[in-house]
Amino acid sequence: MNKPSTPAGAAVIAVPNDLAAHWMPFTANRAFKKAPRLIARAKDMHYYTPEGRALLDGAAGMWCTNAGHNRDPIVEAIRAQAAELDYAPPFQFAHPKSFELASRIAALAPEGLEHVFFANSGSEAVDTALKIALAYHNIRGEGARTRLIGRERGYHGVGFGGTSVGGIVNNRKYFGSLLAGVDHLPSTYNREHQAFSKGEPEWGAHLADELERIVALHDATTIAAVIVEPMAGSTGVLPAPKGYLQRLRAICDKHRLLLIFDEVITGFGRLGHAFAAERYGVTPDMITFAKGVTSGAVPMGGVIVSSAIHDAFMRGPEHAVELFHGYTYSAHPLACAAGLATLDVYRAEGLFERAKKLEPIWADAAMSLKGLPGVLDIRCVGITAGIDLASRPDAVGRRGYDSMVRAFESESFMFRAVGDTLALTPPLIISEAQIGELFEKVGRVIKAVA
Ligand SMILES: Cc1ncc(COP(=O)(O)O)c(C=O)c1O
Repeated sequence: MNKPSTPAGAAVIAVPNDLAAHWMPFTANRAFKKAPRLIARAKDMHYYTPEGRALLDGAAGMWCTNAGHNRDPIVEAIRAQAAELDYAPPFQFAHPKSFELASRIAALAPEGLEHVFFANSGSEAVDTALKIALAYHNIRGEGARTRLIGRERGYHGVGFGGTSVGGIVNNRKYFGSLLAGVDHLPSTYNREHQAFSKGEPEWGAHLADELERIVALHDATTIAAVIVEPMAGSTGVLPAPKGYLQRLRAICDKHRLLLIFDEVITGFGRLGHAFAAERYGVTPDMITFAKGVTSGAVPMGGVIVSSAIHDAFMRGPEHAVELFHGYTYSAHPLACAAGLATLDVYRAEGLFERAKKLEPIWADAAMSLKGLPGVLDIRCVGITAGIDLASRPDAVGRRGYDSMVRAFESESFMFRAVGDTLALTPPLIISEAQIGELFEKVGRVIKAVA
């Protein structure tokens, strides 16, 4: 198809704003473009359609906007930063806010995790952490440690590293053989033993011992790192069983495997703490983060790295680059400004503590949907709930999809459906009344799609 060209200086030719050109990510494009769900504006707990209809945000966008939408201090910080410094090269140069933000993030992390490497997304954060793990062993003379261990049903973004250690079949099966030398722990979820658990299920800590089996198969000297989400979010909210993460840490210590917590979702208050590592009293060797660090306002991700790992790189001639890795937009000034303002909001409003306090109220409200037609399980931890609906025999995922559409069109709220699981993860500023409102709406949707 010929496209109209606009010669320099000529009047801009209007292009019809149709929906065809944008190939949307992780979206049923054809169905969307027949009946679009457009969001034009947001404030605090609500999105607004272009027509001005308010939608209660039951998903914090996509697990991002923990501080709520368009918060004035964050908006102001981004505005001021854009006027002051648009961009600074992050290789061999830097701007002051990058150091300030790194210090603030490190201060929130468990003791011993002192250094922050910035990326722009969760996927980049994960691939960065995996590469740091490989390089760390390499520079210490253990270059045979190349295997990476993920977990079934894990989600670690869409880079080749994250896809390889991830364990969601549809995210993997179209993309060839992925990284070599990857193995997977079993998923921690078992409905028979765990259904309708509030918080961490009692059953399942022993599944961490599967790591011993994997070590026995490959030998510890070939394994670089183990990566898990403390709560598997994107697969439909699977909290870690009680004691599971502690056991994983012990096995990693025994065999000198690095343990990476992917806290892209669980970081910044989602489980009532700055990081889930704190909730569980387990210190990994690296934590990946993204999303909540800027409350979704500007893309940013990163890895918090232990001093032991970081310091291992700090040798050789001082003029030499220590880690051959980074992104043009690592520590972008707008992201750093947004991050600092976001951390200020979290602190000033005590939002992590707020999430912790609300957790029992949230869990009771979620569990009130038990017994509705087609509800097979409800899981919750922190300000997060996953509700499994029975799949239609002829159309797996259809009931989840219909729920999302119904919520948007008839109930004026939004959430994320993953297959036939409804994931609810609102901003941490949600009020008790809004928790009630949200689950009432969810209940009506579940009945409507039954
Ligand atoms: C645990 C986890 N890791 C990584 C990612 C990827 O993040 P992004 O979409 O920013 O690349 C996600 C996204 O949901 C996630 O939940």
